[in-house]
Amino acid sequence: VKLSWKINLALISLLVVSLGIQARMRLDRELALFEREMRQDQHVMGRSLRHAVEDEWQDSGPDAALAMVERLDAREEGVRIRYVEHGAAGARAPELESALPLLQPGGDLSRIEPDERDGPGWMYTYVHLDLPGAEAAAPMLEIRESLAAQRAYVRATSLRIAEWLGVTLAGTTVVVMLLMRWLVGRPVAALAAHARRVGAGDFGSRVGFDTGDELGQLARELDQMAGGLAAAQQALRIEQQAREEAIEQLRHADRLASVGRLAAGIAHELGTPLNVAMARAQMIEAWEVDDEADARVNASSIAEQCGRMVVIIRQLLDFARPRRLEVGTEDLRAIASDALELVAPLGRRRGVSLTLADGPPVFARVDRGQVQQVLLNLLSNAIAASPPGGTVTASVAGAERDGARIAVHDQGSVAAEHLPRVFEPFFTTKDVGEGTGLGLSVSHGIVREHGGSIEVRSPPGAGTTFEVHLPPGG
Ligand SMILES: Nc1ncnc2c1ncn2[C@@H]1O[C@H](COP(=O)(O)OP(=O)(O)OP(=O)(O)O)[C@@H](O)[C@H]1O
Ligand SMILES: [Mg+2]
Repeated sequence: VKLSWKINLALISLLVVSLGIQARMRLDRELALFEREMRQDQHVMGRSLRHAVEDEWQDSGPDAALAMVERLDAREEGVRIRYVEHGAAGARAPELESALPLLQPGGDLSRIEPDERDGPGWMYTYVHLDLPGAEAAAPMLEIRESLAAQRAYVRATSLRIAEWLGVTLAGTTVVVMLLMRWLVGRPVAALAAHARRVGAGDFGSRVGFDTGDELGQLARELDQMAGGLAAAQQALRIEQQAREEAIEQLRHADRLASVGRLAAGIAHELGTPLNVAMARAQMIEAWEVDDEADARVNASSIAEQCGRMVVIIRQLLDFARPRRLEVGTEDLRAIASDALELVAPLGRRRGVSLTLADGPPVFARVDRGQVQQVLLNLLSNAIAASPPGGTVTASVAGAERDGARIAVHDQGSVAAEHLPRVFEPFFTTKDVGEGTGLGLSVSHGIVREHGGSIEVRSPPGAGTTFEVHLPPGG
C-alpha cells in the first residue's frame, strides 16, 4: 500500500531525527565522562609522582631526581613523563603560560592538545614541583597521554549506536507495514472490491466488515448507499413497468378505437347502398311496381348499388391486402406528368388549373402503377379542396443521397381538428357517394411499402401541401 510507505517514511524521518539527537547527546556525555576519568587518573598519578620526585630531589639531589623521572617515563606504557621548567626551551603547551601563574604550589593543570599530524591528540597534565633552589624556574612534571584510546572508544560507541538505530528503524518499518496492511490495506481492498461490485450493478453486495473506525464508518455508509441504490432501482423498475403497462393499455384502446371507426365506416358506407337495394328488392318482391319496365328500373338500381358496394369492398381489399410491388427504375417526373394528364378533365370541370414545376427527371426504384395511384389520390383531393379558379401545383425533386420528394400543393385548407385524422381509413368530409375516405389511407400504405413516408402541412392561410418522401436506392 502506497499509504503505508508514506506513513512509514514520515515515521522513520521522525525517528531518525529524535534518535539521532538522543544518540548525539549520549555520545557527548560518554566522551565527557571518559575525559574526566582520564584527567582524574593523570592528576592522581601526578600527585604521587610529585611526592616521589620532591623527596628524591631533597634526599639525593637534582641529578638523581631527573634520573628518576626518566626511569618513570620508561616504565609507564602509553604515558610519557617529563621534567620541564616554565619558560625553559622544550616546554610544551605555550598556551598554558597565561594560566601558569595561577598554578598554586602543589596544584596542577591539564588540557587537551590536538596532534600536529591529525592524530588523535594528547592530554597533558602539569604538576607544580616544590623544589628548594629552583623556585625561579617554576619546575613542573609534564604527564602526556595519547587520546587514541578515547578516539577508539568514540568510534566503537558510534558504531554501536548506528547498529542500534538501524535495527530500530528496520523493526519499526516491519511493524508499521504489517500494521498498515492489517488496519488499512485489508479494509481498503474490501471497500474497493465492494465499490466495484456496486459499480457493476450488484446493489445487494455488502462490504461485510465493521472495524468501528473511520473505515468501518465508510463501509457502513457504502452499505447504506448500496441499499438506497437498490431501492431506487426497484422503484424505477416498478415505475417503468407501470409506464409500459399504461402504454400497452393505450395502444389497446387505440386499436379498439381504430377497429371501431373502421367498422363504423364500413357499416356506413355499405349501409346506404344496402338499404336502397333492399327496399327496391322488397318492392319487386311484393310487386309494388307498375309494370315490368318499372321492375326493370328497380332491378338496375339494385345492380347499381351492388356495383357501388363492390367498388367499396375492392377499395377496402386494396387497403387491407398486402400489395406486391413491381419495382423498376422509373422517372417520377414522368409519372407525375401522366397523373396530371389523367386528372386534367376533373380540373377543367372544377375550374382548377394544374401545373407541374419544371425540373430534370428524377429516377427512383418504385412500382409505377402504385405511385401513380398515390399521385391520382393526392391530385383529386387537391382539386376537390381547391377554391374555384385555384391552382394545384405538383413538384418532384430528388437527390442521390436524400432520396426523392413529391409534393402536391393546393390553395385550400384542412381544418385543424381533421389534420391528424386524414390518413385514417373511412375518414372523409365528403358527402355520401362522393368519397369513401380510403384514398389517403391507401396512399399511406403504398408509400410505407416503398419504405417512404407521407405527411401533410396546412398552415392557416398558406394552402395545403401533401409531401411524399421516398428513400434513396430502393
Ligand atoms: N388537399 C386536401 N385539402 C383539404 N382536405 C383534404 C385534402 N386531402 C384530403 N383532405 C381531407 O381528408 C379526407 C380524407 O381524404 P381521402 O382521400 O382519404 O378520402 P376522400 O377523398 O374523402 O375519399 P376517397 O376515398 O374518394 O379519396 C378528405 O375527405 C378531406 O376532408
Ligand atoms: Mg380522396
